[in-house]
Amino acid sequence: MLSLEEVKLHLDAADQAHVLQFWSELNEAERDVFLQELSQLDVSGLRGHCEGAARAAASVAASLDDLMEPVPPEFIGSARKSDKTFLAHWENEGLLHISKNRVGVLLLAGGQGTRLGVQYPKGMYNVGLPSGKTLYQIQAERLHKIQELAEAKHGSKCIVPWYIMTSEFTLTPTEKFFKENNYFGLDPVNINMFEQRMIPAVTFDGKVILQGKGKIAMAPDGNGGLYQALVDNNVLEDMKKRGVEYLHVYCVDNILVKMADPVFIGFCVSKEADCGAKVVEKVSPTEPVGVVCRVQGVAQVVEYSEILQATAELRGPSGELVYSAGNICNHFFTRQFLQNLTMNNEKHLKEHVAIKKVPFVDKCGNEVKPTKPNGIKMEKFVFDVFPFSKSFVVFEVVREDEFSPLKNADGAATDSPSTARNALLHLHCRWAAAAGATVLDQDGNAVVLTASESTVINAPAKFEISPLVSYFGEDLEKLKGKTYHSPCVLDKEQ
Ligand code: UD1
Repeated sequence: MLSLEEVKLHLDAADQAHVLQFWSELNEAERDVFLQELSQLDVSGLRGHCEGAARAAASVAASLDDLMEPVPPEFIGSARKSDKTFLAHWENEGLLHISKNRVGVLLLAGGQGTRLGVQYPKGMYNVGLPSGKTLYQIQAERLHKIQELAEAKHGSKCIVPWYIMTSEFTLTPTEKFFKENNYFGLDPVNINMFEQRMIPAVTFDGKVILQGKGKIAMAPDGNGGLYQALVDNNVLEDMKKRGVEYLHVYCVDNILVKMADPVFIGFCVSKEADCGAKVVEKVSPTEPVGVVCRVQGVAQVVEYSEILQATAELRGPSGELVYSAGNICNHFFTRQFLQNLTMNNEKHLKEHVAIKKVPFVDKCGNEVKPTKPNGIKMEKFVFDVFPFSKSFVVFEVVREDEFSPLKNADGAATDSPSTARNALLHLHCRWAAAAGATVLDQDGNAVVLTASESTVINAPAKFEISPLVSYFGEDLEKLKGKTYHSPCVLDKEQ
């Protein structure tokens, strides 16, 4: 830990002496905690960070729109349009790698979930399924199942390690939740939680924001903080030790996420890709998803907050969106790619400006909750490594099967607990129908699904299938001819 004098020197040098303005008012314990926090700051980079943030916020970000072009079709695979034999081939290939312990999953769970408005990590959210399962539990059970499927197919017992990137906000509650739930039956040895870095929020004139008299307003450094966190926490060494060559990185909030999706992995590996992204076709130009595209010939994502409306609205000859490849934050990386990247390019990752309302203490020491944005948070994005890929592929999947994110609180028209819950229940009713079962809704009416009902608004019935029973609708022959009254949860051994 640095001494007060050392901290003072650093803060003076960075033109941030105001950080200690309430020092004389702090008691002994508060001083200890604050000094500890200040010692952990990257003091040598503080001036650069503060000045850079203020400069970036003041300047108009260069628009990439004129340089954008869609990803050429030869680099795009599709779960939607491909022949069944291709899909089966990729699935088999993916399962083979899983069975050989070559695949890991990495969850990005360091976000604060501000839009959802809960005080705990999003993965702990229960969207109101009949089973009451949380997002974490659903993910854990899918991991169980995919290991089981790989083993059944290729005859070798296997492990898919689960790496979980958290932040100062989410690590402790996530650890506690997993422990309380007995790691959902997974072996904790194969769950590796680590923390991403936090960086100070800064005012428009480049001053670190004090959130309390002895506390700096810190924020996680964006999901692109992953790459520094991999280094800080020796994650790539752990992967190497386990023989993990391929990593499926995903974000916490998609209730339909296919953990270690063998089709996606098989596709990427068979194309010898070092880096890949899953996409869905955008539903509208304004849907808040990034666009996977090329910028000056290089693979990239242009985030929804950074694309011009006119570009998002561009349409091709048949009326389709030109930039329709919506990023669903499911990425594939080889360990080799991550190794090269962390050694050579991490420092070159772009930083993005987010202007936010950051609670602060005013000059008199009063805590203020601002009503309008007052602070700058700098963030790195997980997909900003795509330009460093030597072999990048895109894999298009069916939205109704794979993408329903939980972003907003109930009441919002999209991406809410209700839409997530309904998407999962709808999918499970479709699986049951395809298996030849009859599902009855709450009123006892048989649920009939037609092809046109692919847009999920209401769930047809409260019928849920445990991931321990089926991962993507497989092995449901035993349902044939049976009738299920909702609410119903189809669990293992039923
Ligand atoms: C993200 C994607 C967007 C995509 C959308 C799909 C990024 C930068 N943007 O947007 O292109 O279309 O998902 O749902 O990936 N997280 C961290 N640390 C942080 C910040 C976030 O781990 O510092 C995690 C979150 O916990 C979450 C994921 O990153 O799991 C995505 O973050 P979120 O803020 O939800 O991203 P979106 O803006 O929705």
